[in-house]
Amino acid sequence: GKRIVVTGSSSGIGWETARRLTEQGAEVLGIDMTKNFDHVEEFYRADLSDPRAIDALIDVLPDRIDGLVNNAGLPPTKTADLLLRVNLVGLKRLTYGLIPKLAEGASIVNVASLAGMGWPDSVDAIKAAEHLDFYNLDAFIAQWNVTSDGGRSYFFSKEALIAWTMQNRWTWRDRGIRMNCVSPGPVDTPILDDFLQTLGARAEEDRRIMDRPGRAEDIAPVIMFLLSDMTSWIRGTNIPTDGGMASNILCNKH
Ligand code: NAI
Repeated sequence: GKRIVVTGSSSGIGWETARRLTEQGAEVLGIDMTKNFDHVEEFYRADLSDPRAIDALIDVLPDRIDGLVNNAGLPPTKTADLLLRVNLVGLKRLTYGLIPKLAEGASIVNVASLAGMGWPDSVDAIKAAEHLDFYNLDAFIAQWNVTSDGGRSYFFSKEALIAWTMQNRWTWRDRGIRMNCVSPGPVDTPILDDFLQTLGARAEEDRRIMDRPGRAEDIAPVIMFLLSDMTSWIRGTNIPTDGGMASNILCNKH
């Protein structure tokens, strides 16, 4: 079976993805800060907001990794600093660090969000964030007003993640390594209430027009599809998985 690393494997979308991959015979290496490793082959406890923990993880993870699912993420109720650490700069650090350990033909799947689909309106901040790292977060947050107000830091983290995925469509093409992202709409996991709290009226409106919230079971298969060899020509793209929400926004706008 393939060896797949899944971050945030202890809950929600990551849990369901790890469970299904294990069921299909993959060797799943789960990473989370809370303990819950019954459904993975190996569990690594790490705080992905901490650069030293990320570097230690890069050292101990084995070679010949066929897939990396960057799923761990914090909801908009968290401070901008913590949120950008986990959702963006930590994710990138782990990914770059693991590239040498990825096997030929490996697939990287980032879990972004419907909240990131407005990335074209944020290109200036996204460009400024290209060299964002753990040591210059405060200055960036202040300069670009990427605070937690109204969930801005969450939106920005996902916008920048989608843009980064697209930018790196061919970065590792010589080794057959590709990267894509999946963008879920509202999914019924422990963090759904956090979104409803922060986004207020907008979340209520989303809820009114949707037939139902998504479930982790709606998202995991799309992640697995992107991990599979069937999709080796899908590169640097974003697959909204949101019950039609992204198209609804676009159709109402144009
Ligand atoms: P969840 O809260 O159920 O699972 C996230 C997991 O990540 C948790 O087990 C948590 O412990 C782990 N995690 C958080 N911070 C960590 C850290 N510093 N170090 C290590 N592990 C850490 O959330 P859910 O809903 O499954 O979210 C997964 C991804 O999906 C996130 O990136 C989220 O932004 C994204 N997403 C979720 C949506 C939703 O409505 N639930 C909508 C769109 C995107």
